[in-house]
Amino acid sequence: MTKSLPFTRAEIEQVIQKHPTPFHLYHEQAIRQNARELLAAFSWAPGFKEYFAVKATPNPYILKILKEEGLGADCSSLAELILAEKAGITGENIMFSSNNTPAHEFRKAKELGAIINLDDISHIEYLEQHAGLPELVSFRYNPGPLRGGNAIIGLPQEAKYGFTRKQILEGYQIARDKGGKRFGLHTMVVSNELDPYSFIGTAEMLFDLVVEIYQTTGIRIEFVNFGGGIGIPYRPEEKRVDLHLISREIKRAYEEKIKGAGLAPVRVTMELGRAITGPFGYLISTVLHKKEIYKNYVGLDACMANLMRPGIYGAYHHITVLGKENWPHDHVYDVTGSLCENNDKFAIDRKLPEITRGDIIVIHDTGAHGHAMGFNYNGKLRSAELLLRPNGEVQLIRRAETLDDYFSTLDFNGLDV
Ligand SMILES: Cc1ncc(COP(=O)(O)O)c(C=O)c1O
Repeated sequence: MTKSLPFTRAEIEQVIQKHPTPFHLYHEQAIRQNARELLAAFSWAPGFKEYFAVKATPNPYILKILKEEGLGADCSSLAELILAEKAGITGENIMFSSNNTPAHEFRKAKELGAIINLDDISHIEYLEQHAGLPELVSFRYNPGPLRGGNAIIGLPQEAKYGFTRKQILEGYQIARDKGGKRFGLHTMVVSNELDPYSFIGTAEMLFDLVVEIYQTTGIRIEFVNFGGGIGIPYRPEEKRVDLHLISREIKRAYEEKIKGAGLAPVRVTMELGRAITGPFGYLISTVLHKKEIYKNYVGLDACMANLMRPGIYGAYHHITVLGKENWPHDHVYDVTGSLCENNDKFAIDRKLPEITRGDIIVIHDTGAHGHAMGFNYNGKLRSAELLLRPNGEVQLIRRAETLDDYFSTLDFNGLDV
């Protein structure tokens, strides 16, 4: 089974002349089109907003593209708040969903006028003390044993996030007593989930809670945020999540529960990352070595520091050997990086065409949680990020790290050698 590519081997060879591998390449037109499809699917929803999860692809050029398409930013740290600001996203177009948050991050979020989504009941007072309580606050709900979670995120009752059911009812009243006037409700219980009914279940749960909050406290919730977590088809045989099905069913639940209780309008919002950019990024790498011992290995010039998901979750990323798309896939390889860690493998026992040194390898679906999860173990450097523009040009949107960057936090002068 194959996955299509928006470029040919000849085009990538041209790019490599200027920008050596490894690098991540993002497909702008596909990202724009995808953002438009999401907004169209939820056009029925009053004030629908997608706050792109900046942690997925923290690059200001990507954020600017998404801003132009009408998306906001979901930030989880000071650096992400600054990235959003630099991309021109400000005020309530930013959702600040963090946890274990330091005071200076709350202050920056407040200064930007971001919507602050609190992760814990004790943060109401902490925020008040350190930044002042804004008129609008949102709380992250953790349903505990009421929901199942999924493999990547784990069970809600084991997760460190959010308020319990009892705390959330109490939290809104505390915030109101302290002068809060506008309120939002957030949750995120799954990650990379392909089952549309999981999101529909989340929406139903939040709508029920909106009604319960009103009935027990008299507080009206202005928006619900279903979090991120919509999965993407990493495997060629998997299907995209049907956004229209999700939208239709959420609309049904909205009409029954929110309109039925006379609580409309409640704005519907999300903070997807992976589903927005994930399928439209590619890690491009060159084969450095082949090794034949007890198994057959193909060694790339990229490693786990450029894409951590296979190493940490055993996640599948499809691999194409450029120019050999139609060759028989009759060889079996472990495709590896160069870290001194045996989980530094992009694929294990993968059927591929016969590979030779110098082949160009494309690792698919690296547009989210790819470059972003990079690290420097073994002195490995983060790669460049490139953008394939709608006119076919390739733009450098982040240069590769250099050894000078790597050493910039060290002072060799104090060594006395
Ligand atoms: C609070 C929060 N929101 C949104 C996201 C984005 O998730 P995804 O990229 O899977 O949609 C994450 C991911 O870690 C998250 O922790």
